[in-house]
Amino acid sequence: MPGLLLGDEAPNFEADTTQGRIRFHDFLGDSWGILFSHPRDFTPVCTTELGRAAKLAPEFSKRNVKMIALSIDSVPDHLAWSKDINAYNGDQPVEKLPFPIIADKDRELAVKLGMLDPDERDKDGMPLTARVVFIFGPDKKLKLSILYPATTGRNFDEILRVVDSLQLTAYKKVATPVDWKCGDSVMVVPTLPDEEAKKLFPKGVFTKDLPSGKKYLRYTPQPE
Ligand code: BEZ
Repeated sequence: MPGLLLGDEAPNFEADTTQGRIRFHDFLGDSWGILFSHPRDFTPVCTTELGRAAKLAPEFSKRNVKMIALSIDSVPDHLAWSKDINAYNGDQPVEKLPFPIIADKDRELAVKLGMLDPDERDKDGMPLTARVVFIFGPDKKLKLSILYPATTGRNFDEILRVVDSLQLTAYKKVATPVDWKCGDSVMVVPTLPDEEAKKLFPKGVFTKDLPSGKKYLRYTPQPE
């Protein structure tokens, strides 16, 4: 069955992009990576999404996340579309975006990565790509995936928020609760014994009392 599950290694595919031919593992290097797919070039929702992604590129870069988009059109189409995306953002209509776009004209990668949306088809009846987000860690393993249909634009601020959460888990061994925002308290993971939690989190661990008497709701200020 095509697609990627959490913990799977990113496939080391080769592809043509707006910034030349890449091999995916070399592209990722030691960074985190985000691969996000789009149904088609020159479509309205996709244009707004790529515009927002371009605006947020410095934030992803600050977090050591390399961005790469995918759409099922050619490199020349992607370059011409990039001008529209920059113009949509109110910038000079140049062909360059802060990240490459993969040209997946034959849908080879979209099929391999389980990205097709059976409900949205082009004029020839071929399925378009759904709005997938894959976030890979520096170990090239899939840490998070999001799958939206072609007709629902994603929230790129939410994608940045989940990168912050993933990186807090990776580097500080904490989890993030419902509606967490950067700077809010975080949660001690259930597998960490109290004594170890006290040592690991010098700002303190605060437990909320619950009717069950079980002491599992443990908060700590967000570690630096
Ligand atoms: C869009 O990007 O606007 C779009 C693309 C495919 C289907 C529906 C909407």
